[in-house]
Formats: sequence, C-alpha cells, structure tokens
Amino acid sequence: MTERDWKVVNRGGSHRVVVTKELPGARWLQLLTAADCRVEVSRSTEILSEAELRAAFGDHCDAAIGQLTERWSAETLGALRAAGAAIYSQYAVGYDNVDVAAATRLGLPVGNTPGVLTETTAQLAVALTFAAARRIAEGDRVMRAGEYHGWLPGMLLGALIYRATLGVVGAGRVGAAYARMMVEGHKMDLVYYDVRLNAELEAYIADYAAFLVAHGEQPVTCRRAATLRELLGACDVVSIHATLTEETRHLIGALELAAMKEEAVIVNASRGPLVDEAALARHCRAHPRFRAGLDVYENEPAMAPGLAELDNVVLVPHLGSATTWTREGMATLAAANVAAILRGWPMWRAAPGLEDVLPFLGDEEPPHAAPSIVNADDLGLPRIAAQAPTKEDQQ
Ligand code: DGY
Repeated sequence: MTERDWKVVNRGGSHRVVVTKELPGARWLQLLTAADCRVEVSRSTEILSEAELRAAFGDHCDAAIGQLTERWSAETLGALRAAGAAIYSQYAVGYDNVDVAAATRLGLPVGNTPGVLTETTAQLAVALTFAAARRIAEGDRVMRAGEYHGWLPGMLLGALIYRATLGVVGAGRVGAAYARMMVEGHKMDLVYYDVRLNAELEAYIADYAAFLVAHGEQPVTCRRAATLRELLGACDVVSIHATLTEETRHLIGALELAAMKEEAVIVNASRGPLVDEAALARHCRAHPRFRAGLDVYENEPAMAPGLAELDNVVLVPHLGSATTWTREGMATLAAANVAAILRGWPMWRAAPGLEDVLPFLGDEEPPHAAPSIVNADDLGLPRIAAQAPTKEDQQ
C-alpha cells in the first residue's frame, strides 16, 4: 500500500493512531482529535494481511483500531506493542481473531464494542429466520426473473413459525435478545443451551408466560437443555449465538444436523466456523425442506462449494450489525477505548448492555473512562468508581 491509500486526519496530533478501515460517522474522529491523535485511516476495502498491518505500524504507533476480518496474532500484537502502542481496539464485539492472551502477556489492553449491536444483530437473526422459513429470497428471485404468472395455492409454501419450539445456542447478550424477540413476537417455547444459566432470561419469560395467562392465552415455556443434541432434536428453529473458541469450532456438524427435525430452520449470525459449512451444504441438498439462514461463513468471504446453488439457504454478507446507528456507535466506542487509554482514564463499569454504553454515544462529553477493555481485569486496570443511580435510571 502506498501513502495515497491512507487518509490522515489531524496531522499535527501527537499520538499516531492507525485505523485499518474507514469507519462510519464523525463522532469517532472528534473523540480522537480531542485526545490529540493524528489518525491514519486505510482507504483499502481489502482485508489487510498481517504483513500490511505491521508495515502500517512502522516503528511508531500509539494505538490501532482494527477489524474482525484481520488476524491479530501474537506476532502482530507484539509488533504493535514494540511500536509503542498502548492499546489495540477492535471494531466489533467479537474478538476471536485477536490473540487476547498474547496481548495480556504483552501488557496491551484490547478494546471491543459491546451493547450497541445487541438488538441490531438479534433483529438480523430474526430476519434470516423468517427469510428462510417463508422463502423470501426465492420469492424475490421469482419476481425479478419475471416468473410470477399469478397467485397459486401451492406456490413457495414455507413453514409457520408460531407457537413452535425455538432453540437458542448461546444465550448471551445477542442470543437472549433474539430469544425474547421470537418468544414475545411469535409465542414460542424456548429451549436454550449454554454453559451458564441465564436466570434473567428465564425470569423474563416466566413473567411473559404469566402475562399471556392473564390474557386468557396459553403460556410459553422456557428451559435450559442439558445437551446440545437434546435442543437440536426438540426445536423447529435453531439460532446459533455462541462465542467462537477452539472448543466451539464445528459445534454444528453432520451429526448435529442429522439430529434436527426434517423441516427445521437453522440460523447463524454469530461466527461462521461454529458450523461445518460443507456438512450444512450437504444436509440442505439432501433435505430440501430443511432451511438455513446464514450471515457468517466458515472462511469469509468465501462460501462452501455448492451452498450458493441451494434454494433452501438464504445468504447475506455478515450484516448482523449493519445499521447506520450501530456501525456509527461501534466506531464511537472503538475510538473512546483508544482515547481513554491514551489519556490514562480508568475503565467504565462493566458493560453488559446498551444502557451502559449509551453515555458514550450522545453529543455531550463522554464519561472519562474506556467503555470496554476485554482484558482489563487481567491487566489490573482500574475501574471508574460505581456511580449512584441517577433519577432517570430509577424511573
Ligand atoms: C461483531 O461485532 O462481532 C459482529 O460480528 C459485527 O457484525
């Protein structure tokens, strides 16, 4: 890459911050400029290789904001640290592409962007669920091809997702938000599989069940499955929201798909390698009434051979967090992490959800804290003192 491939903002800033992709919105640049940063933004739309990342840091770089598509190995993080960086800030909530253990050994904080994409990603999973179940993409293709010659009773019949059983694999922030949307909207019984009990989700659904009963309707139910197989065999829709680790790679393979109902819908809007994509393609080819909605792929941006030819698979290009508000918010949080570390500010209180990161997103002065540093506790970074709830919080 040449100098022309980089846009420089606030040339005179004293901290050099390398940003590996152009980011939406203006607020993130304001935060970095206010923190006296010279911001160098790659104009490339290609995924930068580790060699390109290291060339970009050179021998002096105070911070980097990078992408989930890049590999931030121990070697690359080491080069970043050696160039003098005080933080690597990931423009994503997920960070399976970052060797966080190595960063911690190097004493390098790793930032991420939770909260702001929870509902957005859950909505995309809902959209994929119905796109797959109701054959939306096939219908779109029929219209565009001029093949619609009038309403027919048997045309493109799909599956009704109502009062059916929903399976959520990984009931963390996004999984729980998706579960609530599907249970409340479509009165589904929930089965979830997670190493942790989600007591808040269970209590919420119990309250919703009581609400339905009070309105003379059948309640919904919620239970945590003892095994993944148990969930897969019981559910009409299965949505995957697990974190990608070495243990969860290919969590769903040929045997798991075979355990699912013949006409089930599977959705993945978390990380591609959780599903054995070649096995999924084979399963969908062999079971035309089985449906899949995919936002993420095992070897992005590539797809398993044959997947694109299957009508019972709906495919979108990793759009989970792709709303203007969310992507601008992610940029703001990624920059706020950098600005806070460079200014020596403490960590924000733990950031489990949107309500916690909202104070960073408005136009007013953000809290003097880093919104989310994933290895903060391991690095012993101080947290801002817990604040007394405001009147608004209590309402
Ligand atoms: C994330 O932030 O991890 C998402 O995958 C981006 O859409």
